[in-house]
Amino acid sequence: MKLNIAVLPGDGIGPEVTQQAVKVLNAIAIEFDHIFLFKHAEVGAVAIDKKNTPLPDSTLELCKSCDAILFGAIGHPKYDNDPSAKIRPEQGLLKLRKELGLYANIRPVKAYETLLDKSPLKKEIIKNTNICIYRELTGGIYFGKKQLSKDGNTASDLCEYSRVEIERIAKLAFNAARNRNKKVTLVDKANVLESSRLWRKIVTEIGSDYPDVELDFLFVDNAAMQLILNPNQFDVILTENMFGDIISDEASVIGGSIGLLASASIGDRYSLFEPIHGSYPQAKGKDIANPIASILSAALLLDHFELFEEANLIRESVERALMLNITTPDLNATDLSITTNKVGNSIADFIRNPKKSNINYNNMYLGQSTII
Ligand code: IPM
Ligand code: MG
Repeated sequence: MKLNIAVLPGDGIGPEVTQQAVKVLNAIAIEFDHIFLFKHAEVGAVAIDKKNTPLPDSTLELCKSCDAILFGAIGHPKYDNDPSAKIRPEQGLLKLRKELGLYANIRPVKAYETLLDKSPLKKEIIKNTNICIYRELTGGIYFGKKQLSKDGNTASDLCEYSRVEIERIAKLAFNAARNRNKKVTLVDKANVLESSRLWRKIVTEIGSDYPDVELDFLFVDNAAMQLILNPNQFDVILTENMFGDIISDEASVIGGSIGLLASASIGDRYSLFEPIHGSYPQAKGKDIANPIASILSAALLLDHFELFEEANLIRESVERALMLNITTPDLNATDLSITTNKVGNSIADFIRNPKKSNINYNNMYLGQSTII
């Protein structure tokens, strides 16, 4: 298969982790005879510095002309600490999501057997957790009307949803549940919010077309608690934009590090793949950031094009690296020599030399094998 992939590394650790995902995709291309062409463009704070906008037209055009987008991270502390900044890096990502109609953000969360001890949560609680969060991505409070009074003392953000916005993501969530453990949990705040009551009504209607899928409802405050109390009760979580943003960061604790969580943002026409983590500016350029979320985002990209064998090989190779403790300091504080690049090299290495072979992986440790 030939794919044109727009690469938007963005800010902070974005470039370093994205580079590892590209490395891994190149290994897949060689192994499976695909052609992946990567085209780089700027977004976020780096784009503001150069072009005074977080999403230059040329970047948007490139994204539209490619088959898929691989996104790094966005954000810079100089904007976080300046509430009056009119131009902000995050606007670039939000505009990209909106312009490309990426309404469904899919965030798989899994407790890896080998990492059960790394989570601050008890291992008997998180063991076997396998959740997929379907977060609505182009509506709600993120995109509703924003107002600031003239005197600067009152502000508001409107949370608005329409039937079509709820229906389209609900269908995706139910379809996903059908191929998983057949349960959808709608997370909302229907005891308080009108928009949540509309979600409940419409999701219930859609649910009646899926009699084989159990539909459950949880208020978001309770869901936040249940997620760490008993994460195994969840299969597919369906929720609106802001709630999804918050509970997916929380859910990453189950996996042991936010550096492991990948996501796919899907629309009717375009698709973008990005880690759920931010730009982690403190780690920028230090070669210590965990590239696995970006690498697993590349696996989701391959899934999207139905290259399932390839995607699974990436996931197996990631698990192999985790099993051998080839992980960055967020998961392996005792060995600081394992860098972002080494993790990427090892995973690419495993792809080029899959499990079937009788290579001793312990000797291939850290990409120091003679095989690459
Ligand atoms: C995410 C991020 C973004 C969001 C930010 C960077 C705008 O937190 O993708 O989860 O809030 O959606
Ligand atoms: Mg977030």
